[in-house]
Amino acid sequence: MHDIIRQLDEKRAAARLGGGQKRIDAQHAKGKLTARERIELLLDPDSFEEWDMFKEHRCTDFGMEKQTVPGDGVVTGYGTINGRLVFIFSQDFTVFGGALSEAHAEKICKVMDHAMKAGAPVIGLNDSGGARIQEGVASLGGYADVFQRNVLASGVVPQISMIMGPCAGGAVYSPAMTDFIFMVKDSSYMFVTGPEVVKTVTHEEVTAEELGGAVTHSSKSGVADLAFENDVEALMMLRRLVSFLPSNNREKPPLVPTEDPSERLEMSLDTLVPDNPNKPYDIKELIVKTVDEGDFFELQPEYARNIVIGFGRMAGQTVGIVANQPLVLAGCLDIKSSIKGARFVRFCDAFNIPVVTFVDVPGFMPGTAQEYGGIIKHGAKLLYAYAECTVPKVTVITRKAYGGAYDVMSSKHLRGDVNFAWPSAEIAVMGPKGAVEIIFREEKSDPTKIAARTEEYKAKFANPFVAGARGFIDDVILPHETRKRICRSLAMLKEKKLENPWRKHGNIPL
Ligand code: HXC
Repeated sequence: MHDIIRQLDEKRAAARLGGGQKRIDAQHAKGKLTARERIELLLDPDSFEEWDMFKEHRCTDFGMEKQTVPGDGVVTGYGTINGRLVFIFSQDFTVFGGALSEAHAEKICKVMDHAMKAGAPVIGLNDSGGARIQEGVASLGGYADVFQRNVLASGVVPQISMIMGPCAGGAVYSPAMTDFIFMVKDSSYMFVTGPEVVKTVTHEEVTAEELGGAVTHSSKSGVADLAFENDVEALMMLRRLVSFLPSNNREKPPLVPTEDPSERLEMSLDTLVPDNPNKPYDIKELIVKTVDEGDFFELQPEYARNIVIGFGRMAGQTVGIVANQPLVLAGCLDIKSSIKGARFVRFCDAFNIPVVTFVDVPGFMPGTAQEYGGIIKHGAKLLYAYAECTVPKVTVITRKAYGGAYDVMSSKHLRGDVNFAWPSAEIAVMGPKGAVEIIFREEKSDPTKIAARTEEYKAKFANPFVAGARGFIDDVILPHETRKRICRSLAMLKEKKLENPWRKHGNIPL
């Protein structure tokens, strides 16, 4: 008995030491925490239950039988964040560079399978050199086993990836299929092929950071949702993200009591929209002044900035917010913003999170770049996402709602539940200038006539009443009462039931 206990202690100590003190020091020297330190920071104190600490690889090639480390390069188990269950795997770069073996993959699959049974999020802390080279196809099979589970878990439990070191080759596709990707600046990167291969194939010279670092993916590619300065900040923000989410698709998100009165009036919003319709303003001001305690968790703030997405709470209940941003490209919808918005709306819909939409959109972005890039297909993604979405949908048109973009942005026609407009709303097929130039083309050479026609068009359409007369707008509200009216609408919609017809799955224009 004593022997076994001594052995147990020794094995635990060996597992805790991972690849050894030297490699732990090297990890620290790079500004990175170890796999276990990360778990400790992320989870509530003393809540971590570790599994498979003694699991080892079974590889006998290349002298691997002599190199085994209990745990095999990944720490797995479950614990809590603010008292709520989460499953976790954290790759240990000090053991074979966190490379994924068959056994390593089995450990990840085990936590994913349990997360599905228990209905709790899966969090992956990625720090890995990819497939364990010594294991060959066994390791590739391990990756595919994880991929399959990512897909089956999609829309069932939230999946969150934190990239905290290398993530290259096919290994990127597991995070890619999860709901959120966070990255750490200067110490993490993701790419399908690294700088060396890029140089050989395309003759481009690029560093790993430029090719697939946190800034690249959070601003250029849109692969990552957020980039953080270091491990600690990233882990704290991950805790914050989890606080907004339900544990699975059968639950509602957690209610967080607030001191912020749901009937709070915000008088400063009455002057948010400038008199000149071509002058921009910051839609984030409206968002921050509307949600509980000004607490808005923005996602992808540096990517496709013409649309703003993120989580907030209204009367304690999580809501997903989607808003056109007049400060960037006048709030036009283009390829990137449509995809960004669509994926977010689909996440909210999958996880019972009501969607609040703020609309100020002059239309879809014109131009060959957009058309050749497939704006038709990509714009349709946002339309599709809003149209299939059955969670409560509350929409506020603050200013422009023109053309197809009016329809797309959670309009009444796409089953918007409550659709408000501010008095400054302009809802029409297009803006006055463009409209007049088309319908009064023969008067184009006469500026006085055109000016008169433009005024006529403005008077007729640059207001919320035409849409109101048809019931496409439920009410015209004063900006200062926006929070109150949204909170009341969401309370009314609390038990909303709406189902789409049965089908195996729809065919969103991918
Ligand atoms: C086995 C690996 C490994 C791997 C790193 N190591 N990657 N062992 N399989 N894939 C080991 C190293 O031998 C080293 O062992 C330790 O981890 C740390 O690696 P270093 O190279 O010293 O660290 P660093 O300089 O920081 O470089 C990290 C790295 C580099 C950039 C990740 O190690 C690297 O390029 N590794 C190979 C990456 C790769 O080609 N992976 C396969 C990709 S294809 P010691 O004992 O010296 O500490 C792929 C396909 C997945 O993943 C497909 C899914 C469908």
